[in-house]
Amino acid sequence: MLTLTINGEVHELDVDPATPLLWVIREQLALTGTKFGCGIAQCGACTVHLNGAPVRSCVTPVTVADQQKITTIEGLATNGEWHPLQQAWIDEQVPQCGYCQSGQIMSAAALLANNPNPSDNDIDQAMSGNVCRCGTYGRIRKGIKRAAATLAAGESSEPQDRSAGRGESRHG
Ligand code: FES
Ligand code: FES
Repeated sequence: MLTLTINGEVHELDVDPATPLLWVIREQLALTGTKFGCGIAQCGACTVHLNGAPVRSCVTPVTVADQQKITTIEGLATNGEWHPLQQAWIDEQVPQCGYCQSGQIMSAAALLANNPNPSDNDIDQAMSGNVCRCGTYGRIRKGIKRAAATLAAGESSEPQDRSAGRGESRHG
């Protein structure tokens, strides 16, 4: 039996320890915002946070998440408020088909939690593992900068900080 805390909810799961975390998130917990893309850690569509750090859930055995805290795109907003990145994604009209975007946002959220004022180079490095077949990279960069500006302006900075890490940073 494994114990996973996903988006603040504790789940006791009886699964094969080799099962990829993505399978559990999507199939057992029906959190379908996290996408299956390549299955081999090459596209980033399946990105979630494990204790605040972005991981590729398609290649992360569920045992790695035992007793740990996971955040998916469904857990990024807090108290009914979009995460600043989600608002920026709307304002900048970032998605095209949208398939890659939850993974993009999760990588971006981890970036801003550690680096509130990323340079273009910082953004390119942090986002380099997230592939967008629609080519929305320019808008993604604008969205990240818009969210960073929102955070810097202190608008709803407290909930933003909480949502970025969902308390995970306290645990490493
Ligand atoms: S589905 Fe996990 S990196 Fe592509
Ligand atoms: S928006 Fe279509 S794959 Fe990125």
